[in-house]
Amino acid sequence: MEDLDKLKSDLSALIVGAADLAGLEAARIEALGRNGRITQLLKGLGQMDAEARREAGQKFNVLKNEIGAALDARKAQLEDSTIDARLAAEKIDITLPPRSQRSGRIHPISQTMDEVIAIFGEMGFTVAEGPDIEEDWYNFTALNIPPEHPARQNHDTFYLDAEKNGAPLLLRTHTSPVQIRTMQNTKPPLRIIAPGRTYRCDHDATHSPMFHQVEGLVIDEATHMGHLKGCLVDFCRAFFGIDDLPVRFRPSYFPFTEPSAEVDIGCSFAGGTLTIGAGEGWLEILGSGMVNPKVLENCGIDSTKYQGFAFGMGIERIAMLKYGIPDLRTFYESDVRWLNHYGFAALDVPSLVGRARP
Ligand code: DAH
Repeated sequence: MEDLDKLKSDLSALIVGAADLAGLEAARIEALGRNGRITQLLKGLGQMDAEARREAGQKFNVLKNEIGAALDARKAQLEDSTIDARLAAEKIDITLPPRSQRSGRIHPISQTMDEVIAIFGEMGFTVAEGPDIEEDWYNFTALNIPPEHPARQNHDTFYLDAEKNGAPLLLRTHTSPVQIRTMQNTKPPLRIIAPGRTYRCDHDATHSPMFHQVEGLVIDEATHMGHLKGCLVDFCRAFFGIDDLPVRFRPSYFPFTEPSAEVDIGCSFAGGTLTIGAGEGWLEILGSGMVNPKVLENCGIDSTKYQGFAFGMGIERIAMLKYGIPDLRTFYESDVRWLNHYGFAALDVPSLVGRARP
């Protein structure tokens, strides 16, 4: 039988001498691996008689436990020194300047939409939506713009090859068809705004073939022109952030409203600079009116019981005015330098809440 003391000192020397975890693993295999020296001893127990086996078994197990404990202790030592070595080698230089964080910007069109939605949302309006590809009935006829009506010519409509209900489909020229869809699908009272994309065959510094509008519609039993005025005056002042902004209602014509009014805000053009809220000038910003009873009837709403008002405005136009953006085409050029200049940080939306009412 092997000299157990010699075996113990040999294995202990291997363990203590292991320079790293790989060396220690080799020592473990040498001692306790499948063919390790202690393993061999334990395997040999089977050949002994009962008396010798009990005696040797105890000794072998003591040795096995001692060597196991020595392996654990050396492993802990080696791991500690690995971490110590890493800590010593990896020094963080906290005097280095941090890398700058690049944050995205909200596009002025999205920002303006959010602002409009926030302001009307606080007045109790909900958001309604409709399709960009529209039927003639919703875009024109139901809005009291029948086929021969001259207003159709002003819309520069993009027609599609496909037809529905005997008329070509088209890209909606305004958000007003959402009024029709809402009135057909929902019982009054109604109070909705409909932001979205609109399309006209037009392209210059102030027109784009695709642009955005927001539509508004209020239908109730007792809604009158005073409500229209109050609502739009409040909106204009909240949107432009000027509590005493002059707002003017100028008689106009739209087939879907009667009477109709365009809304102007006070401004000055002095010295070639536009200043909103000052001076003697006026700028048109939106169209509005009392919903034409014919439109109510087209949607199956009893015009002797219900009435209301509607309005529509161009998002790009009010964004250009509020944020001093001179050329409409830049909205769609996807120039990151432009967006860094004109874009917005997230969650930066004004509110009616807490605004002083003049
Ligand atoms: N749809 C009109 C346009 O695109 C804007 C408009 C004017 C909408 C008056 C309305 C309204 O709802 O009452 O020019």
